[in-house]
Amino acid sequence: MPRPRALRDAVLILIGATTMHLASVFLQEPAGSIVVNTQVSSHFIEDYNNSAPAPLDVEEAVKPKEREVQHLLQSEVSSTVDLAYDFPETTIVAHAPGWTVFRNLYMSNGTLYIISSQHASSFPDIQYITSTGLFAENTPENIAARMPTSKDMDFLTPAQARQRWGGSPDKRERNRVWSVAGNTFLVNEPSQFLDHYYHFCAELMFGAWSFWSGTFNSIVDSRTAALTTAPSVDRMIFAHADAYGWRDRPGFNSYFLRAAFPSLTVEVQADWEDRIAATASRSAPARAWHLDTVLLTDRSAAFRGEVCGARTQRIAGEALEHMQRAGTLARWWWEPLRRATLRFAGVDEPTLDIGIRAQAQIQAQSIVITYISRQGARRHLIDADHEQLVRALTAMCTSHGWELNIVQAERLTKEEQLELAARTTVMIGVHGNGLTHLIMMPVTPLSTVIEIFYPGGFAHDYEWTTQALGMRHFAVWNDTYHTYPELMSPNYPEGFQGTQIPVYAPTVTQIVQDRIAGRLS
Ligand SMILES: *[C@@H]1O[C@H](CO)[C@@H](O)[C@H](O)[C@H]1NC(C)=O
Ligand SMILES: *[C@@H]1O[C@H](CO)[C@@H](O)[C@H](O)[C@H]1NC(C)=O
Ligand SMILES: *[C@@H]1O[C@H](CO)[C@@H](O)[C@H](O)[C@H]1NC(C)=O
Repeated sequence: MPRPRALRDAVLILIGATTMHLASVFLQEPAGSIVVNTQVSSHFIEDYNNSAPAPLDVEEAVKPKEREVQHLLQSEVSSTVDLAYDFPETTIVAHAPGWTVFRNLYMSNGTLYIISSQHASSFPDIQYITSTGLFAENTPENIAARMPTSKDMDFLTPAQARQRWGGSPDKRERNRVWSVAGNTFLVNEPSQFLDHYYHFCAELMFGAWSFWSGTFNSIVDSRTAALTTAPSVDRMIFAHADAYGWRDRPGFNSYFLRAAFPSLTVEVQADWEDRIAATASRSAPARAWHLDTVLLTDRSAAFRGEVCGARTQRIAGEALEHMQRAGTLARWWWEPLRRATLRFAGVDEPTLDIGIRAQAQIQAQSIVITYISRQGARRHLIDADHEQLVRALTAMCTSHGWELNIVQAERLTKEEQLELAARTTVMIGVHGNGLTHLIMMPVTPLSTVIEIFYPGGFAHDYEWTTQALGMRHFAVWNDTYHTYPELMSPNYPEGFQGTQIPVYAPTVTQIVQDRIAGRLS
């Protein structure tokens, strides 16, 4: 039985740019249909639901959804706000700590404005929406310095907005408000974590896409999991990072962003500062920007939430778990971005389909074991233990007829790395960025990530992400392991970052064999 989705006030907000995208989905998928509701309530939509998240349903992925069709007349979907004389009020379409989708957000002189005739108390506390965008340190002074003030985000009534930026109606003067049309991801966090493949792709983009597609209750085309009704994203603005502030050294961040969003425009801090300066000229009356539809994300604000701050330390945790609770996250929500990136890398269609085929049990899957060696990097295994592991994996794969790949990521091209991840059943590696490629693995009932830590050490990075995708994760401490539903806490003992991480190879090969045999499902 497909699980009914909670349809909220604002199910799909369609703006001009998404119309073509949706039309093409209809053409591909006549059985599917979409509820379109262009009514956005004028107050904060309290859609938080504490009930336990329903388990993800594989059936749902392969059956078309039953939905009402409403014809997509251009007049119904185009955004017809009149900025010349009105101040369309700000609404929040969805919110979780660190992640907020707004319609009609304003910015002037660096302050984001919520224009509303409702009292500020009907909106979430701004500390859960934004911050001052400074680098994070774990000191009381720094924590205080990151708390947002009315300089970062403020509230105005429509009358106050008119006083600041309105023209005089008798003289037929127009408002001094310029619209930034379409859909914007506004990233308030600084470069501290952005310039890292894991934090950019597996945290920021992973969280942003779950939140965005969940907000719009997006349907992912069930046959190919390539098309989504999620509104397209026109631009990303990094308000506190420069052009190199969001790029990682190996170059995966820009590769992923351009492959997954080929028409997206990037603005960085200097561009945001242009927009700030343009609204705060000393010689001219104040102006404002009107941001049509915005996903505002803020790392510090996410850490003030329970899911991220207390439990997972993953900003994406707030986004994804919120949408799971709301019941609006499609089973294959991540797949369109995964596919777009892998197709760009030259991966063929049968390989792209491994996950979908395995989940639908259409065909037995070939087993591919990939050990990402870090022996050339800073944090790594004891050399002798690495050699033992290689021997044990080789013996196991030879006897079962499984494919084994032992790779040092830095010696492969991006395309080779992605192609390998795209068909890996079991990924093995020491805790580290190489494991980020798990976001490109096919999600099958056998998919597994085995992460080797210095005994006693743990971090949620790859564990949370693996489980969020519906795969199994094992944290290996030499000759023992920890896995769901055990609750682990982050710990960085002496030796965590070192070159003497032990691993007892039979523990690793036993996990692999048990997983493939279905004994650890
Ligand atoms: C929360 O979800 C449950 C189960 O789906 C539903 O019965 C309940 O009405 C929901 N509560 C709210 C406040 O939406
Ligand atoms: C813009 O903000 C800065 C401080 O952030 C302030 O010093 C300046 O006076 C403001 N400019 C205008 C025109 O309001
Ligand atoms: C790892 O486990 C093996 C097998 O139990 C044991 O012989 C070895 O001493 C352990 N290594 C460390 C560093 O604890």
